[in-house]
Amino acid sequence: MGDPAVVKIFDTTLRDGEQSPGATLTAAEKLQIAQQLARLHVDIIEAGFPAASPGDLAAVKAIARSVRGVSIAALARAHKSDIDAAWEAIRDAESPVIHVFLATSDIHLQHKLGISREGARERVRTMVSYARSLCPTVEFSAEDATRSDRDFLCQIFEIAIAAGANTVNVPDTVGYTFPNEYEALFRMLRERVPGMDQVTLSAHCHDDLGMATANTLAAIKGGARQVEVTVNGLGERAGNTALEEVVMALRTRPDTFGSVDTRINTQELLATSQMVSQLTGILVQPNKAIVGMNAFAHEAGIHQDGMLKNRMTYEIMTPQSVGWNDTNLILGKHSGRHGLDARLRKLGYKLDAEQLQSAYGRFVSLADQKKLITDADLAYIVESGQETPAAV
Ligand code: KIV
Ligand code: ZN
Repeated sequence: MGDPAVVKIFDTTLRDGEQSPGATLTAAEKLQIAQQLARLHVDIIEAGFPAASPGDLAAVKAIARSVRGVSIAALARAHKSDIDAAWEAIRDAESPVIHVFLATSDIHLQHKLGISREGARERVRTMVSYARSLCPTVEFSAEDATRSDRDFLCQIFEIAIAAGANTVNVPDTVGYTFPNEYEALFRMLRERVPGMDQVTLSAHCHDDLGMATANTLAAIKGGARQVEVTVNGLGERAGNTALEEVVMALRTRPDTFGSVDTRINTQELLATSQMVSQLTGILVQPNKAIVGMNAFAHEAGIHQDGMLKNRMTYEIMTPQSVGWNDTNLILGKHSGRHGLDARLRKLGYKLDAEQLQSAYGRFVSLADQKKLITDADLAYIVESGQETPAAV
């Protein structure tokens, strides 16, 4: 078997992610995150939307000038002034990318842009070729692609490719699609659009129906070789596809995605997640896949017993592989004797069967009153009363 094909990771935490309400970052914070994204080995960092504000232009410029070993992209509407601002911001990058977008659904054309389909075709032709006259790498996105007329979408991508786009992106802007539908869309585009085999086909999903990761993985099955994602799934409304989820799905299930992988250094996932959370002030929910506080925590007695016998019983990846120190066996009212015994041994208490039974009784009645049992609680439980630990 040859080397797996690479799915490029286009990280848009600093652009689509920063559009999340309340997530605004300073230029220095954006630079700090960009440096961490480079350590994570993403392929492309979308650093911002330079036409949006002079501050964003300056932040993107600082990233383009100092972050190396990774492509730097900037977003632009299909307007000359936006494209000029994007180019001004990224021209000093090692590998700059101008990302031009235009909506293609009738809803957006009629109600938002007020232009005809012919007007849209003309804008894509002229603006993609203008961007390409400045920058060797241009991505074109058809905003709201999943609600666009399929024949029109094919025409638009054909025009974008002929005008010089190296990557074409198929956003599910409003999180509307389903995995089978999105996969079929990618297959259809590969079959019908002339020149599609010469460019990188990209997926970009939002999570309005909780489907962003599933849709992105379906796109990979349909032939996408770039995925646009954010750390912690940060982004507009319900967010974007979470980088860590797609990366670990590909790593964990080579039986399904055997011939594709990413370049991500997965051991940096947790550090990246924690930095983004701390700097944006947006907390990660405890049950978040991969990077949530409880992602590798087990409280139930049956699970703890299984984990103590063999980690593979309840963990499909190791905590260390994504940056955690270890599994966390939490003691609470659902825990059993094996879990209690294992923790007590870690604390230096080796109880015989009778002592353990008695300590367990006290533990359960305390656990009925407290959500989480601390090491100090355990020491008290063991050391108080009649029983004496065999060794401390
Ligand atoms: O969701 C979207 O359509 C976007 C585009 C600008 C790529 O973020
Ligand atoms: Zn988006």
